[in-house]
Amino acid sequence: MELISTIADLKAALNGHRQEGRSIGFVPTMGALHQGHLSLVHQAGEKTDVVVVSIFVNPTQFNDPKDLERYPRTLENDMELLEATPCQYVFAPSVQEVYPEPDNRQFDFGDLERVMEGEHRPGHFNGVAQVVSKLFDMVEPDKAIFGEKDFQQMAIIYAMVVQLGLDVEIVPGTTVREADGLAMSSRNALLTEEHRKSAPRIYQTLSEAKKLTLSMSIEEVKGWVVAMINEDPYLCVEYFDIVDSKTLQSVDCWEDKETKVGCIAVFAGEVRLIDNITF
Ligand code: PAF
Repeated sequence: MELISTIADLKAALNGHRQEGRSIGFVPTMGALHQGHLSLVHQAGEKTDVVVVSIFVNPTQFNDPKDLERYPRTLENDMELLEATPCQYVFAPSVQEVYPEPDNRQFDFGDLERVMEGEHRPGHFNGVAQVVSKLFDMVEPDKAIFGEKDFQQMAIIYAMVVQLGLDVEIVPGTTVREADGLAMSSRNALLTEEHRKSAPRIYQTLSEAKKLTLSMSIEEVKGWVVAMINEDPYLCVEYFDIVDSKTLQSVDCWEDKETKVGCIAVFAGEVRLIDNITF
């Protein structure tokens, strides 16, 4: 496994593989890797010949400077974890390398970005699209794997690929959970002991909510989920919505045919956790 920090070195390393007809798989990350990321890397290894993992804490997608500052940075440990995976290249560029000058591009994802994460984190998805489009330009992957935990991010990436006419297949990766159900996230490492004990209540409540679809309306289920989670003094729901999996717009009744996904953001103290479940 090789650690690369410049675009020129990355291109030189990958061009040889491409000329030999090898397919490139890409897993973009912000580091602080956990089993969830590693499962995406294994998935990339099953589907492509050469796997690149990027580790880059992207400043343009943080709307809260404090959040950017405290985001965990653990490159040495990340490298150790990746040793046991099919990853061949770790691309860890500097901010200067990715943004030699400010990226002023403004993407327009319409209603997809006006709800949920987009509504509560203004500018977040523009920053994600900026960095992912740049990384795609650098890596030129055949397939890129994104975790389903960030459900809205995946929808935005699909839309971005269509808008920019990119020749890359986006592959969804299943959410990996701790034994108590908590979705794995780099942010879990920032939880205090008390908040860590409470956090599994999020997915437990979502799972219980799935059993209520015959006895409650969508509005009632939404209210129930928020009340159940907020009953815990260490948790505070920012939003919970049940949405059409394609348009991400709220769904009004269970009878609607489209696949429905319940998406949630919860503050556990200062740490913001997101999760989702298919209804
Ligand atoms: O999901 C993430 O970790 C980030 O949003 C991504 C896709 C690596 C872009 O910075």
